[in-house]
Amino acid sequence: MTIPPDVAPDGSPVEVYRRLPPMGEAELIHRAVPDGASILELGAGAGRVTRRLLALGHPVTAVDESPAMLAEIPPEAEAVLGDARGLALGRRFGAVLLGSHLVNGVDGAGPACLRVARSHLASDGVVVAEVYPPGFDWGAAIGRSSRMGEVSVTLTRAALVAGRLDAEVRYEVGGRVWRQPFTADRLTETELVAVLQAAGFELDRWLDRERGWLLARPR
Ligand SMILES: C[S@@+](CC[C@H](N)C(=O)[O-])C[C@H]1O[C@@H](n2cnc3c(N)ncnc32)[C@H](O)[C@@H]1O
Repeated sequence: MTIPPDVAPDGSPVEVYRRLPPMGEAELIHRAVPDGASILELGAGAGRVTRRLLALGHPVTAVDESPAMLAEIPPEAEAVLGDARGLALGRRFGAVLLGSHLVNGVDGAGPACLRVARSHLASDGVVVAEVYPPGFDWGAAIGRSSRMGEVSVTLTRAALVAGRLDAEVRYEVGGRVWRQPFTADRLTETELVAVLQAAGFELDRWLDRERGWLLARPR
């Protein structure tokens, strides 16, 4: 399948991620990591979170496998084109940010990203990860739309088969529509703890009430 240049290999539309506003993610991350900690951001996209992290005083190395996304990263950040599942920069960071639900990645992608996080983390470093909330009711969310800045986001389908989510979101911006099908491992909290442990981490705490963001430390 040929991927259009304005869509990342995972199906994320570049134009949509260019327009989506920050929604407090960077502030939540900033509160969880040491002041001024260097951050390795995996799956940085168009730099929506990157920009705010820089403004909050964190040097950021932003990694993405999409050149079109990476072109949007501000020059104050170090931009690295690469696959988060196999990255080997040979450097360590005060924090690794696994946004974009990378931990829920199918076919071993989640554990691979966590292993990469572990090998790039300073001994006193922390991992902040965005995950699909373990108890999320996908069925109830089908058809639900939310407005994020100028972007309208709707979950158009979601089916769970043997622990794997098969879903699609629809984005609309100013009359233009994009559809992004995606799959994900639905991890229960017990499974999540086990996946973290297998990669050398322990769950420290949840960072939000919805359990969509967690802090983990090396074991
Ligand atoms: C949904 S976008 C979100 C971007 C950003 N985290 C945000 O919240 O605005 C997901 C991004 O992760 C990137 N991505 C997904 N899997 C990746 C991988 N294995 N390695 C590097 N980048 C990846 C995609 O190219 C895309 O830019």
